[in-house]
Amino acid sequence: MVVYDNYMRILFVTSEVAGLYKLGGLGDVSRSLPVALRRLRVDVRVVMPYYKKIQLSSVRCVGRIAVDFDGKRELVFVFVSVIPETSVPVYLLRHPKLDEYHEGEIVEKFAFFSSSVARVIEYAPDTFGGRPDIVHCHDWHTALVPLLLGERNKLRREKETLESIRTKTIITIHNLLYQGTAPITLAKKLHLPKSIFHILQTKKGQTIKLFREGIEHADIISTVSPTYAKEMLTGDYGQHINDALSRRKADVLGILNGINGEIWDPVHDKFLSVRYGKNDVVSGKAANKEYLQKTLVLPITKIPLIGFVGRLEVRQKGIDILIAALEHLLPDGVQVIILGTGPKKVKQTLAAFETKYPEHFKFVPTFDERLARRIYAGADMLVVPSKFEPCGLTQMIAMRYGTIPVVRKTGGLADSVVDGKTGFVFEDYNETALLAKLKEAVTLWTSEPKKWSHMALRCMRQDFSWTVSAKKYKKVYQRLLINT
Ligand code: GLC
Repeated sequence: MVVYDNYMRILFVTSEVAGLYKLGGLGDVSRSLPVALRRLRVDVRVVMPYYKKIQLSSVRCVGRIAVDFDGKRELVFVFVSVIPETSVPVYLLRHPKLDEYHEGEIVEKFAFFSSSVARVIEYAPDTFGGRPDIVHCHDWHTALVPLLLGERNKLRREKETLESIRTKTIITIHNLLYQGTAPITLAKKLHLPKSIFHILQTKKGQTIKLFREGIEHADIISTVSPTYAKEMLTGDYGQHINDALSRRKADVLGILNGINGEIWDPVHDKFLSVRYGKNDVVSGKAANKEYLQKTLVLPITKIPLIGFVGRLEVRQKGIDILIAALEHLLPDGVQVIILGTGPKKVKQTLAAFETKYPEHFKFVPTFDERLARRIYAGADMLVVPSKFEPCGLTQMIAMRYGTIPVVRKTGGLADSVVDGKTGFVFEDYNETALLAKLKEAVTLWTSEPKKWSHMALRCMRQDFSWTVSAKKYKKVYQRLLINT
């Protein structure tokens, strides 16, 4: 039995957890980081909304709490379970406002969720297994919690000390693009004075951003790679919130995410036609490539196969420069497979490529984990041309599968791929720079197969496990508690 360090109880507050309800990378982090931290004797528990879609075989109600919201007293029920296939306790808050992630006013929904979480911490901490020493919030959805914990104490005129000092807060930024913007009327719904918010004058009237409030009030602001921690302080990457971040520079830090080595492992991946490891990477990948070509009805030939897996999000993922580069690359004897969903216009453009280059291009406009895994295994390269990328998981997964990443030098991509050693890295955000790097990769693949397989092995030998990141988070927690 693990004995947890009793001075350090952490509560993760998040909108999604893989295994229960996942929309993106945040879900993976909310599942894997607590598992890794618990292995380091850190007592982490997780709280999230109890969406209707969440299915659990064993769950029990441990309490209920009254939350004042929008002039009404709402009753929120607290359930407890464990994250499937782990021993991490997860608390789930049930209320009709939290039934559906995507229904209704989303910012208001998560303000209500945050308010409920703060309320339990303040008035019924035993419901969460005891008062947490640190509340660790993720993204804008939960960014109001530090303000609620801190300000409510002040409003109740308790000494600044006790409660607010006992509960420290961290906000982790996974994506600054979404900031949780709401009209100032939300303050009233939360029964808080307008004066404690940072109000913006916009064309639509006075607004507030939940992320901004988190940045102002949390004790520590972290993000998911050291490079992004620097980038987000600049005008180019700061999504108009860089001034607030810069003022708090001393409390900003970046810790690179990991990947779950058990879930992402070509030795055990049941979706692969042939499983392989470091010793048989060349033959293993060749078999998976052939299978991929066959299932997607591409000619089975020995030309380089380039994959892309992810959201076709123009503002972040670099789809515009990828499309422009493909125009030049496709007639040049490569195969490209793109897997992911996105806006209609992008889908139409990619579908047109498929008609024009049937032997060279496949576009699969869904999210299909099985196919994603087959691409990680069967492609020679994975392209990640993001305009910005706080961390990015696909480049790390690709490397674990011996697939060489071609990435832009930004955020977590810059921190996990070394040009010429473990991949190909281009700097400027434009199609010329991307195309030049892709061609460099194609040339190496064609003319130096030995060098290529050495590079693939180097990729596979790296340690991207969560243990490395979890140790860093534990240090941050320790520092925060010592500074009390
Ligand atoms: C967001 C970011 C991505 C990061 C993930 C997990 O989805 O866009 O870069 O890897 O969060 O932190």
